[in-house]
Amino acid sequence: MLKVLIASCKGGCGKTTLATHLAAFYAVEGKNTVLVDCDRLASARHWCERRAGLASAVLPIDGTRRNWRERIPTGADCVVIDTPAGASAEDVDELLDYVGAVLTPVLPSPFDLEACSPFVQAIAGLTRIKRGKVAAGIVANRMRPWTQASQRAYEDMQQFALPVVAQLRDTQGYVVATGLGKSLFDYHAEAVRSHQDDWKPLFKWLRKSSA
Ligand SMILES: Nc1ncnc2c1ncn2[C@@H]1O[C@H](COP(=O)(O)OP(=O)(O)OP(=O)(O)O)[C@@H](O)[C@H]1O
Ligand SMILES: [Mg+2]
Repeated sequence: MLKVLIASCKGGCGKTTLATHLAAFYAVEGKNTVLVDCDRLASARHWCERRAGLASAVLPIDGTRRNWRERIPTGADCVVIDTPAGASAEDVDELLDYVGAVLTPVLPSPFDLEACSPFVQAIAGLTRIKRGKVAAGIVANRMRPWTQASQRAYEDMQQFALPVVAQLRDTQGYVVATGLGKSLFDYHAEAVRSHQDDWKPLFKWLRKSSA
């Protein structure tokens, strides 16, 4: 079973966008997919509710309840865990006995880089991650690769203690799709395809990490 945790110390960096898109991708592939929402604001759960009528629906689980692990159905193929802003490395450590991979989205701005660097360093230092039991990586999000600011930020992210496993570009498509309970993986238009391709290195990395 693929189990992925999305976490960051920083708010608004794309955790829920990443979590919903991962869940949608696997659900569209036909996998029984569960999205555990540990955020009291429940954005991921609301997204699941908006998606409930689709053949590729995703089962929402309230991760703010203590016993959420017991609520994961035995037939689940894929579990994605979304967490609220302000996570610490200790919060992440508590879930490392359960997940196979941890992802941290990072935005290409000096404030985000500054705030996330110590968090990423602390994650890289957790025993299960150091020993390679759990894979951990960064997703560069809302990238504008044609700008110097994004290019510089990408270079800085590459100096972080964890690998950058994908670069997702900034596009209104994410905002529109998630508002409808959908994802870019629910569309086949030419304009969407190049953004879907941004995710390929991430899916490859996840396949390797859960092999
Ligand atoms: N690649 C992207 N391109 C354009 N907009 C994006 C992208 N990723 C995220 N967004 C938008 O940025 C905002 C923050 O994203 P999101 O809610 O996923 O972040 P979050 O880390 O879950 O925030 P919070 O810490 O509040 O839970 C949302 O409006 C979302 O639609
Ligand atoms: Mg969120």
